[in-house]
Amino acid sequence: MCGIVGIVGRQAVAPMIVEALKRLEYRGYDSAGIATIEHGHLDRRRAEGKLVNLEDRLRSRPLIGHTGIGHTRWATHGVPNESNAHPHFSDDRVAVVHNGIIENFRELRDELIADGFHFASQTDTEVIAHLVARGLRDGLAPKEAARAAISRLRGAFALAILFKDEENLLVGARNGPPLAIGHGDGENYLGSDAIALAPFTNTITYLEDGDWCALSHDGIDIYDVDGRPVERAMQKFIGSSLLVDKGNHRHFMLKEIYEQPEVISHTLANYVDFVAERALAREALPFDFAGLERIAISACGTAYLAGLVAKYWFERYARLPVDIDIASEFRYREMPMPKNGLALFISQSGETADTLASLRYCRAEGQHIGAVVNVRGSTIAREADIVFPTLAGPEIGVASTKAFTCQLSVLAALAVAAGRARGELSAEAEAGLVRALGEAPRFANQALKLEGQIEKIAHDLSKVRHVLYLGRDTSYPLAMEGALKLKEISYIHAEGYAAGELKHGPIALIDEDMPVVVVAPHDHIYEKTVSNMQEVAARGGRIILITDERGAAECSVNPEHLLVLPDMPEIIAPIVYALPVQLIAYHTAVIMGTDVDQPRNLAKSVTVE
Ligand code: M6R
Repeated sequence: MCGIVGIVGRQAVAPMIVEALKRLEYRGYDSAGIATIEHGHLDRRRAEGKLVNLEDRLRSRPLIGHTGIGHTRWATHGVPNESNAHPHFSDDRVAVVHNGIIENFRELRDELIADGFHFASQTDTEVIAHLVARGLRDGLAPKEAARAAISRLRGAFALAILFKDEENLLVGARNGPPLAIGHGDGENYLGSDAIALAPFTNTITYLEDGDWCALSHDGIDIYDVDGRPVERAMQKFIGSSLLVDKGNHRHFMLKEIYEQPEVISHTLANYVDFVAERALAREALPFDFAGLERIAISACGTAYLAGLVAKYWFERYARLPVDIDIASEFRYREMPMPKNGLALFISQSGETADTLASLRYCRAEGQHIGAVVNVRGSTIAREADIVFPTLAGPEIGVASTKAFTCQLSVLAALAVAAGRARGELSAEAEAGLVRALGEAPRFANQALKLEGQIEKIAHDLSKVRHVLYLGRDTSYPLAMEGALKLKEISYIHAEGYAAGELKHGPIALIDEDMPVVVVAPHDHIYEKTVSNMQEVAARGGRIILITDERGAAECSVNPEHLLVLPDMPEIIAPIVYALPVQLIAYHTAVIMGTDVDQPRNLAKSVTVE
């Protein structure tokens, strides 16, 4: 969840490290720090809070070293203050930055204290610095000391290590969280992802689990877990796809909401042949939809909710049953899996630890592994048999928006392809659904036009402490997504419920202070949803209804606010209705004055369990 950077350079590297850390701040922003080697000694600047605080500190006291490491933190062990901020030092000879969790740190800490080491922080990371320093004290060469220390660590880590006497050496290691090596000209780089290194290079090598590496100005040596030199493939990234800029928008989240018509269109075009009116016609799949008994989907957060929408689609259009799980539950559930089954994993980052662990469980169970992933080259993408990329571009706002609608676009195309392969959809029915999918970008664009009205609704919501979201069928995951978005960026408590479940408990919450957002396109189940709205209205609940023209015309309740979208084909409603739901959360958060792009306690990429 933290972001790490390292550079063996030929000029003062602190400004470059800051530039890279800005691109990693989405991974955590509790504190930040940089260390460089300056005339044979280690120096560092650290600051609690966001990177701007570290920048202020560097302005008054610059670092001048040519080799350095940097870190932006999402606290796991120890409160987010300056003494817990990375880099951590030992003996003033070794500096370490770390992303992940060292599970055996207590045992190592006790051992190191008994050996005379003094701990200056509450972090698990500090044990790494001391372990390396102990190796040096024992006479090991720096690389050997690093390797010996790494072999003692249990848990998840990506590391970068500096040695005060070695200006031309940077050691990195990976076990779990990703670590990329950037290839430069006379300088080399380490970073948590390719985006961080994009200002310096577009040539990247990802370390594999268990790998460690030694970087110098002119050389990159990679070793596997047994210390054997290994080659890992170089990949080229297209610079423009790595650009990260808010443009004229106030927040990344708003920019990303507005990008949706375009990225949905781009993503659909990758999976749907609009001329032949077929889905996934060009894709060679390593499994046959026709032979599957069921699909297992695992994901977390918003990606899980995309999977939940897909369950309705696969079951409806392909008559293919879907087991969908929150990955953190699935990974320990010991689910028996059918022979040659298909397991699908959905992840924006492609690095979510629980989703990755679920993937590995399914791999061990002999499943075909498919991954719907936004970040190319991510661990989940690399470990899948087939990757269905979402072409959303970099998503920087912690709240997922465009990745969600692109995930839905891919999953809809997959469900339609499955329907055809299983003989459940005629060519004509498939063509109709493909045409419907083609309308999604246009309707998404129209949804954005509701923003003015949504701002008024947000003013009302910003005054309440609780909000209920309701929906049925594919709008039920949308209701949960609305509640998740509102909670995470406005800090207002919200729950998403299946509207039909209301009467089994949550209806007790309804009174005149409870806003109830109802997501209800005029679909095959609309009348049922209207009945549920009646139940809310009869108890004085304040309804905010998101529907379409037919839904508005046929609604027998009087909502406090009404958002009307155009009538649209049922299959694209979850994609399009996501936009007003996102805008409600966004504007409420803006009015509440929260940090929209980097809400408290969260991180974009959750690489710890
Ligand atoms: O990178 P992933 O899609 O695997 O991330 C999963 C969740 O952590 C993510 O969707 C999270 O719930 C978002 N902050 C929601 O907006």
